[in-house]
Amino acid sequence: MAKPKKQKAKQFQRPRGTHDILPGTQPFWDRLRGLAHDISSFYEFGRIETPHFEDTELFTHGVGNATDIVEKQMYSFKTRGGDQLTLRPEGTAPIARSYIENGMVAEPHPVKLWYFGSFFRHESPQRGRFREFHQWGLESFGEEGPVVEAEIIQVIHTFLKELGIQDIYVELNSIGCPECRTQVKSQILAYYRSKSKKLCVDCKRRMKENYLRLFDCKEEKCVQIRQNAPQIIEHICENCKHHFKLLLEFMDEAQVPYVLNPYLVRGLDYYTKTVFEFFVGKPDEEKGTVEEVAEEKEEKKEEGVQQQPPPKLSFAVAGGGRYDGLVELLGGRPTPAAGGAVGLERLIEVMRHQKIELSAAPVKRIFLVQLGDLAKRKSLKIIEQFRNAKIPLGMSLGKDSIKSQFTLASKLGAEYVLVFGQKEALDNEVIIREMTSGIQETVPLEKLVDSVKRRLNL
Ligand code: HAM
Repeated sequence: MAKPKKQKAKQFQRPRGTHDILPGTQPFWDRLRGLAHDISSFYEFGRIETPHFEDTELFTHGVGNATDIVEKQMYSFKTRGGDQLTLRPEGTAPIARSYIENGMVAEPHPVKLWYFGSFFRHESPQRGRFREFHQWGLESFGEEGPVVEAEIIQVIHTFLKELGIQDIYVELNSIGCPECRTQVKSQILAYYRSKSKKLCVDCKRRMKENYLRLFDCKEEKCVQIRQNAPQIIEHICENCKHHFKLLLEFMDEAQVPYVLNPYLVRGLDYYTKTVFEFFVGKPDEEKGTVEEVAEEKEEKKEEGVQQQPPPKLSFAVAGGGRYDGLVELLGGRPTPAAGGAVGLERLIEVMRHQKIELSAAPVKRIFLVQLGDLAKRKSLKIIEQFRNAKIPLGMSLGKDSIKSQFTLASKLGAEYVLVFGQKEALDNEVIIREMTSGIQETVPLEKLVDSVKRRLNL
């Protein structure tokens, strides 16, 4: 009788737009996590972690129904209990929710929080754009003045600089407050109405649903039309203009290279006044160095804060802004706030591109070579002793051949090899062999760590 054919097991792949973070990439993540931790605490932000999923309405309400995130990119699902939940596409609305829910309003203000975690958006995967990605974010509640945005921008700038990233600059704009929005809206819509026949279908819809998104359109014909559109900054109220001017003064003081982008509106509806995005590249290669651009910008500022946006050289590595209405919109007291978040996968790509060296893993000057079952079992205790003594120890418990273990030890540049075979395991001894000279000495197990320390001058 013919044997039944064994079916080949299905091979699984990670979902599109996600990635496995393998051991080889972990040094980047360790560096980002460590630095995010240090800088956030230095600037007195407290760490917060919120759930990976939330009530869907938090985002439809908080981020805005007519935004791309809510319209197209949310992973939403109904639970068995009937709750409508969404994997968090961003961190600001959840943190505003947590600020209200946990009564942080009663704490001394500003309440400054930071987070580090993954977010989910159903976007078309491409370079620097994933469906699960990570952000380091900062949020600050309770201060009205532009010093808050200035601080957030400065902290992000410091983070990027300390990573060793070159050519960082921030694009800035103000989109005004609810009071001046009517004026801004009527100016922009009046202009676009006169061009409506030439607009793409999406922009025709944007005119009705979310006029600020008109500035985001990438269609060539709409980009052309945008070039003569009224600039938001010209139509915002005096208060918002003053706020923005003060922010620019902070930027000059902190020496953060910036460029004004009158069409920067960002893709989330909660922003008021300041919006910003960080890029890596030259702000405007036609115009020269960052210093020259700064000089020119100074003249422009005196003429009344306007400037053409620079050509985009890469994706935004961070973004944020002020969101004075969000806490109230989510049921809290009116609370001014501002924040920003850094896209960490994008940063790693920039770090790789700029060939930024990460500090090398501690060199393992000692390598443990074991042979036989008893030695392998007893090795676990030896490893623990070295860990307690904080001495990095190379090993390969999975390899049984002495030759391949020695090869690995010399590949790792070990100065000493600890030879632990069947006989040594029975006698509770270890041979310490100096790799270059081949000189070896047998020491009792209980004196091993001390004799290694002596040899290494520790
Ligand atoms: P966002 O601009 O949507 O803002 O995201 C911030 C950063 O996350 C972006 O600049 C980008 O580097 C990264 N990012 C966004 N989407 C993706 C993606 N699909 N794949 C890879 N990286 C991505 C926010 O999320 C706001 N919550 C920031 C904020 C905080 N505003 C105020 N406080």
